[in-house]
Amino acid sequence: MRRASLTQFLIERQRAGRINADLRLLIETIARACKAISTRVNKGALGGGHGSASSENVQGEIQKNLDVMSNEILLEANEWGGNLAALVSEEMEDVKPTPTHYPRGEYLLLFDPLDGSSNIDVNISVGTIFSVLRCPPGVEPDEQVFLQPGRSQVAAGFAVYGPTTQLVITVGDGAYGFTLDRETFTFVLTQEGIKIPQDTAEFAINASNMRRWEPPVKRYIDECLAGKDGPRGKEFNMRWVASMVADVYRVLSRGGIFMYPRDSKNKDGRLRLMYEANPMAFIVEQAGGSATDGKTRILDIRPKKLHQRIAVVLGSKNEVDRVTSYHANSQ
Ligand code: F6P
Ligand code: MN
Repeated sequence: MRRASLTQFLIERQRAGRINADLRLLIETIARACKAISTRVNKGALGGGHGSASSENVQGEIQKNLDVMSNEILLEANEWGGNLAALVSEEMEDVKPTPTHYPRGEYLLLFDPLDGSSNIDVNISVGTIFSVLRCPPGVEPDEQVFLQPGRSQVAAGFAVYGPTTQLVITVGDGAYGFTLDRETFTFVLTQEGIKIPQDTAEFAINASNMRRWEPPVKRYIDECLAGKDGPRGKEFNMRWVASMVADVYRVLSRGGIFMYPRDSKNKDGRLRLMYEANPMAFIVEQAGGSATDGKTRILDIRPKKLHQRIAVVLGSKNEVDRVTSYHANSQ
């Protein structure tokens, strides 16, 4: 049986009245940019992408060459697409409205062009994360317009540039996975209606922060580490890729809990709400999982700033609920 391409999948979604032509074309544009980034990532040191650029991003982090390249690929692809009113990137301080000499669309795009960039030079998976919101008609797309809760997203997705390039998307009716066929250079539907198991025995957290964690997180991880002898009565395994895209892809594939909690150093958490936590929370919920900041459902949080950080606990529902209940009990 021939498998559907991303284009066919999106046309079907449009026919079903789930998305309009503009959103379909926007997702196609993003997917095309992801293919171009995938090619750059694959070239490694041969493509000039390794090493650091001489700049810092809005978070004060040193930018890698590939960060800058990926950002430019996404900007160029979207500028003349005609589907966007404005965009926001992790790599840029301010909102970038579509220039007035290009056609303006009804959507707002937010992206992390190259997630997990500390892994670029060491040949470990990296990726691109995106979130799409609607721009109310006739409104100038400034920062305020972007500050919508995650539940207002109309689409979200991420690509992982790993041993294969994978694209996961949702338009609000389930989560779907595509594999890049390098011979035809098309994304092919390979995971339909992704479902995260409710239970898991695998957790992901950067344990080097352990001494800084809040008591509920410490309790949860201590109980996992105690294995069969502890209150959970079962063995747990641990994984930490340090690329959110790869860790979340694993959770979507075989279940698990992924946590980047707030701690005494990262007081608001480490990950960014609008282009990391929100799109991942949308996808994870669409796959039957949960996503909270330890206390509140991520998709209900009203953002205060474009580049706001947030604590993230996501994945298999029963484990996320457990962590959330530990937080509730410690108040
Ligand atoms: O974008 C931030 C990020 O690179 C995520 O992809 C990843 O989960 C996290 O940071 C890794 O953080 P740390 O370096 O603390 O392990
Ligand atoms: Mn990132």
